Amino acid sequence: MKLLTGISELVTNSDPTELMARPSLGAGDLFSLTDAAVIIDGETIAWSGPAAEADAALAALLLTAPDAEVETVDLGGRAVLPGFVDSHNHLIFAGDRSAEFAARMAGEKYSAGGIATTVAATRAASDEELEANLVHLLDQATRSGTTTFEIKSGYGLDLADEIRALEIIGRHTPESTLMAAHVVPPEHKDDPEAYVSLIIDEIIPAASGLAKWIDVFCEEGAFDEDQTRRIIEAGVAAGMRPRLHANQLTAGGALQLGAELGCVSVDHATFASDEDLAVLAAAGTVVTLLPGVEFSTRQPYPDVRRYLEAGVNIAIATDCNPGSCFTNSMPFCIAVAVRDMHFTVDQAVWAATAGGAHALDRTDIGHLGAGARADLTVLDAPSYRHLAYRPGVQLVDRVYRGGELVADNRPTTSAD
Ligand code: NIG
Ligand code: FE
Repeated sequence: MKLLTGISELVTNSDPTELMARPSLGAGDLFSLTDAAVIIDGETIAWSGPAAEADAALAALLLTAPDAEVETVDLGGRAVLPGFVDSHNHLIFAGDRSAEFAARMAGEKYSAGGIATTVAATRAASDEELEANLVHLLDQATRSGTTTFEIKSGYGLDLADEIRALEIIGRHTPESTLMAAHVVPPEHKDDPEAYVSLIIDEIIPAASGLAKWIDVFCEEGAFDEDQTRRIIEAGVAAGMRPRLHANQLTAGGALQLGAELGCVSVDHATFASDEDLAVLAAAGTVVTLLPGVEFSTRQPYPDVRRYLEAGVNIAIATDCNPGSCFTNSMPFCIAVAVRDMHFTVDQAVWAATAGGAHALDRTDIGHLGAGARADLTVLDAPSYRHLAYRPGVQLVDRVYRGGELVADNRPTTSAD
């Protein structure tokens, strides 16, 4: 067992019913409390609460495990929050599109067309190159506090390249997504329906058992609503759960289609009408906002206050990919969400942790109540508010995933 002490502020995101049963826990959107402690047993949180109650909680736990060894870790007055849940990523790719980004900043418009550049580079790369790039990006993101990743295929766009992407993804996360319907690849440019048939008749059956999720880029220049419906329905029939890229570049019907198709989350939602939001709220569909995309494409930022007033459940993710947004930093996305999308700091931190868990339909992550997976991010700061207050600063001190220390950013001279 591990007893973490010296926690200046603990974000638990605990279940409100648990909060009511234990009034000593703090109040507020995040159920945060000051001067706290956490007890980890193996891969899970055994207890979290006020530091003053930690000894009694530990003694009670040791009654049923008297031989357990207890390692005490003094975090020295640092804030602790659930590891970030990054529920939207495209991390299997090769190549570089920094020139496209520079041209965009000089006035070019973002379009889905750039995806073809990455598809060519990805097809030409070896399995080893693709996996090494993935591992590098995952390691970077872990050191930024992320403990759960969803990862999509979608830069292979043929049977062999989509399946090998899913095989590589499956070695690194259970949250694997088939996104063969990213764009129509060049060889099917003159007959997009042939590619839709390839997805439905060959790629989806081969991906069954490899992909947990099915995703479609429903957008002008990608797949229309009728194609999206057929692909999602085929994926669901093959045992995958649905999610969608919707209303990223235009205000179409994709958000309402996502609600109708039972998507767990619809992502981007840069453009959303009041009716779209009402339908999503009624369906309980999570809307995953991607602040880094608006930042990196100079699209207008959606104002989250409208979404929240409509009663929509919100998540924040990075959408890390080489085209529309090449950041894998959840702290950066939190800061942009607060500054430019009008999240409160509490709402943004909640959306990047508990919200991401909802977007992946997971109850074991995104919170630090007893029974949750011991995924926690320790900040080199006294409060989680510093995530938005100190944008661009590496504030992640160390990261635990499943109770194990998986990242330690402390300078070697001060590590103890
Ligand atoms: O989520 N929207 C579609 N796909 C990615 C961008 C892919 C790319 O530009 O390479 C996205 O933004
Ligand atoms: Fe995306």
